[in-house]
Amino acid sequence: MSLRLDVPRELALQRAAEIVTEAWTSFDRARPQQPPIDDHLRALFATGLPDSPTGVLEVLDDARRALDESIAQPRPRFFAFVGSSGLEVGVLGDLLAACFDANLAVWAAAATEIEDQAIRWLADFLGFPAGAGAFTSGGTVSNMTALAAARERAIPGSRRHGLGTAAATLYCSDEAHYSIQRAAEILGIGSGNVRSLPTDSDRRLVPEAVEEAIRADRAVGRTPVAVVATAGTTLTGACDPIDALADVCAAAGVWLHVDGAYGLPAATTPSAGHLFVGLERADSVTLDAHKWLYLPKACGVLLVRDRDDLVRAFSHEEAYIPHERTGHMVDITLEYSRPFRALKLWLSFRAYGAQAFRDAVEENLRQARLFHGLVVAHDRLEPLCGPPPLSIVPFRHLGTGGDLNAGNSRLVRALQDDGRVWVAPATIDGSVCLRPCFVNFRTTDDDVHALVDIAGELGG
Ligand SMILES: Cc1ncc(COP(=O)(O)O)c(C=O)c1O
Repeated sequence: MSLRLDVPRELALQRAAEIVTEAWTSFDRARPQQPPIDDHLRALFATGLPDSPTGVLEVLDDARRALDESIAQPRPRFFAFVGSSGLEVGVLGDLLAACFDANLAVWAAAATEIEDQAIRWLADFLGFPAGAGAFTSGGTVSNMTALAAARERAIPGSRRHGLGTAAATLYCSDEAHYSIQRAAEILGIGSGNVRSLPTDSDRRLVPEAVEEAIRADRAVGRTPVAVVATAGTTLTGACDPIDALADVCAAAGVWLHVDGAYGLPAATTPSAGHLFVGLERADSVTLDAHKWLYLPKACGVLLVRDRDDLVRAFSHEEAYIPHERTGHMVDITLEYSRPFRALKLWLSFRAYGAQAFRDAVEENLRQARLFHGLVVAHDRLEPLCGPPPLSIVPFRHLGTGGDLNAGNSRLVRALQDDGRVWVAPATIDGSVCLRPCFVNFRTTDDDVHALVDIAGELGG
């Protein structure tokens, strides 16, 4: 038994390339349904650990079937969640990165240069004055990394000594992503000490309320660690007013983190750029290139204004990490074995150019507005919110019969069983709705119309 390929490597690669070509071709257009898991695969999934080998071509073929029978986000009518859409150069980047398998925990020569350059390019793209940054597994880890740095700045020495008697607090809107609560729990701040403040009529954090909450907490001896502005909430795409929050943070001496995991690419567009004014004043910024920059997962990015903030929170000396060279990423991040996530963004910026990304995001914004208009004009559909600030458009069907919440839950199940479009449900102010997200570069206007037509038809 050996760990060598059982066929010439050209053959294995050729087969893999055929599978990818077939997939990309199938992603070009919507397909009529989501195929069910077939009997061959069901039998395979019931088998135990294989001790003896199966030919690599056969194994690849089973993988092809399984992937074809999985829910794949790159399909043009996948509207659920703010996910990635498998940008082709990004996929190639992942293949190459996996092949060379550099470890970006420590200095990795040219790979480290590429990570640094990709960070600088992304910062330029957004207009954020980054002193440093890092690729991460996603928004959850980026947010936690930023808040760890903010905690160390607010309560120096807390990484070593714990929070002791310091009562630390965070401030965000009640529609911030759950990863903020999770970070508070893991960092010892406690999710009970996250001030999840009510939003205004546009579902945006109210700067005066943040100012007042910080003042009230300080008055009783608590220590504000950070304000988190969400630049594109997961539920509706609302953008907190960054500039006004930066004023509050500057006056109070509190760290400003912008969670733009989903929405921040829209900062580069003519029609939505104004929603992100003040971004350059933040201390840290989260963006997931595996969301609205279309790259395959995982490609989270954290940018910070001042590298020393990360160094103070994460640097360390261990006998197994050689420090005769400086600039190891383990000194500014959470992870050790770090895959080369930067390569796919670097390659994509080079292969497509930054303008192609701005254009694609602008196109998705236009599609979201188109969809909103179609829903407004429909006699049995209604949007749950006004015109979308970004590219999420929650809506519901009014003619499902009986209880609207139960009816719209049924409609989501019916749509998923039907399989022509893929949407997920959400609840907004107690109303169950469908929450399509337009973040796919493959989606066309025909696909947008199809979602309205099919939801209208299956809703009754
Ligand atoms: C605003 C926001 N922040 C953070 C996250 C978490 O990102 P990830 O799933 O990459 O950890 C999400 C995920 O949807 C998000 O929308």
